[in-house]
Amino acid sequence: MLSRRVTATLTFVLGFAVAAVAFDEDNGLHRAMESLKKHMKPLSQSIGDAAKNDETLKHLMDMQALTLESKTFDPPTAKDLKGEELAKHVNDYQADMTKLLVELATMELEVRAGDNAAAQARVKAGLVKMREDGHDKFQGEEEDERRK
Ligand code: HEM
Repeated sequence: MLSRRVTATLTFVLGFAVAAVAFDEDNGLHRAMESLKKHMKPLSQSIGDAAKNDETLKHLMDMQALTLESKTFDPPTAKDLKGEELAKHVNDYQADMTKLLVELATMELEVRAGDNAAAQARVKAGLVKMREDGHDKFQGEEEDERRK
């Protein structure tokens, strides 16, 4: 028979795990972003090679859809803001997300035009830079805490 202390500890840990999963499941933005991340490595491996254009275009179009999906959410940093400050913050988030969408669409057009080198250069100079800037501005502490 498990001791009362062991039972209490197990109940606490289980409760915490369920809460963490529930947060992730409810957090559509987090889910969309995790899916976006899954395309980054295979995209950077295929984009420079014209023979892999079909695969590259699939990644770019899925990432455009995930970016549009991310635009249907407010960032966690908006949670404690009100009035004009909230409106400005959400407007900035939407604008930065649209810049990501434009970058992905530009990469798609470059690949379709046979300019794979130009599209490849945008992985680091464009996507990675936009991710870092966007996360600095809109991710907030909770995300940093969660990733520790
Ligand atoms: C290709 C570009 C991007 C990728 C691959 C990406 C990837 C991710 C990943 C994997 C997460 C989960 C937590 C983490 O590991 O950091 C995340 C969270 C987040 N990202 Fe991005 N991101 C990108 C661009 C952006 C941009 C441009 C913005 C804002 C304009 C943004 C805003 C956020 C926010 C607000 C969260 C926190 C969501 C939450 O968990 O509540 N991301 N992103």
